Amino acid sequence: MRQIWISKAGPPEVLLLREGSEPPIRSGELKIRVEASGVNFADVLGRMGIYPDAPAIPYVPGYEVAGVVIEVGQGVTQFKEGDKVFALTRFGGYSEIVCVPHKLVFKRLEWMSAADAAALPLNYLTAYQCLVIMGSLRPGDKLLIHNASGGVGLAALDIGKIIGAEMYGTASPGKHEFLRQRGLHHPIDYRHEDYERVILEKTQRKGVHLILDPLGGAHGPKNYRLLMPTGRLVQFGASAAAPGKRRSWFTVLGWLGNIRSYTPLKLMSDNKGIIGVNIVHLFDQAELLRPWMQQLIEWYDEALFRPYVDKTFALADAAAAHHFLQDRQNKGKLLLLP
Ligand SMILES: NC(=O)c1ccc[n+]([C@@H]2O[C@H](COP(=O)([O-])OP(=O)(O)OC[C@H]3O[C@@H](n4cnc5c(N)ncnc54)[C@H](OP(=O)(O)O)[C@@H]3O)[C@@H](O)[C@H]2O)c1
Repeated sequence: MRQIWISKAGPPEVLLLREGSEPPIRSGELKIRVEASGVNFADVLGRMGIYPDAPAIPYVPGYEVAGVVIEVGQGVTQFKEGDKVFALTRFGGYSEIVCVPHKLVFKRLEWMSAADAAALPLNYLTAYQCLVIMGSLRPGDKLLIHNASGGVGLAALDIGKIIGAEMYGTASPGKHEFLRQRGLHHPIDYRHEDYERVILEKTQRKGVHLILDPLGGAHGPKNYRLLMPTGRLVQFGASAAAPGKRRSWFTVLGWLGNIRSYTPLKLMSDNKGIIGVNIVHLFDQAELLRPWMQQLIEWYDEALFRPYVDKTFALADAAAAHHFLQDRQNKGKLLLLP
């Protein structure tokens, strides 16, 4: 069985293809032959050695797969061999075969491709938690999505469209037309313009109801200022700590130094909320996640959205996938096909 290992902290070339033995299945698990593995920005942070939750290097990255059940562990009655499924994996997804606790496995609809299914779990559950569960997004709300063209960004755009929000989004200019076609009302070229100024102008200086911030650092206080009273800021990433392909402690420290804390008194007096999201920390609370996924599958079934898979790579080309992502070329999802 082949897997991609992060052999040491560094640029994409540290991702190495290695032959290993098949993982033994444990009670309560399903063994899945992987058809597609999702690539996520958190894999990049792990590869650079700046992801706090990652296991010690060397390890196999990967948070999500789609494939077919090839063995059913003791005590599992809801699945059988041959079921087409997708799953959340707490690392290890860049593999030909994975074993996953059955509570983190979801059945695919008959017409759901492996590519669509592998593009769903991490991005759409994160966006759902940010917008619906914790962000309380309502029809007509003004929503600002940073990284609007990324995996979580496009998922947020799809969910925001279903709810009926007015959407602002930051992205590199070459992706604006694509984003408009996906439903973004106000694309903002954050690389050449100050998004704070643009949004204040577009909203008659009122600001927005909800902001999804995966950048962090200096963007936190900037986004806080952009909230109108009753507005909520969801912090869920650290992209601004990783502008390059190698770890830079100077950048990481600068990012940390820009974090601001807000006292309850300040939040009360401003009528604003700050929300933190880390979906991976909920992987051991499947009873929370499963109803969210059920809603997403229903929306998929009703054709209210389809994940956008930008590009697929052979498993052996994982390094090329990381380059593509860090060169900011991707729109939506990148997948590895074992
Ligand atoms: N907390 C959670 O539960 C959770 C879950 C999933 C993801 N996340 C976080 O959400 C963020 C987005 O993740 P994702 O997997 O959706 O992203 P992605 O698809 O990998 O997004 C890549 C895009 O982000 C933009 N970007 C902004 N800063 C970047 C940088 N420093 N390096 C490379 N690209 C950058 C680029 O588009 P433009 O050039 O158009 O801006 C790029 O094309 C990450 O910070 C990730 O860690 C958090």
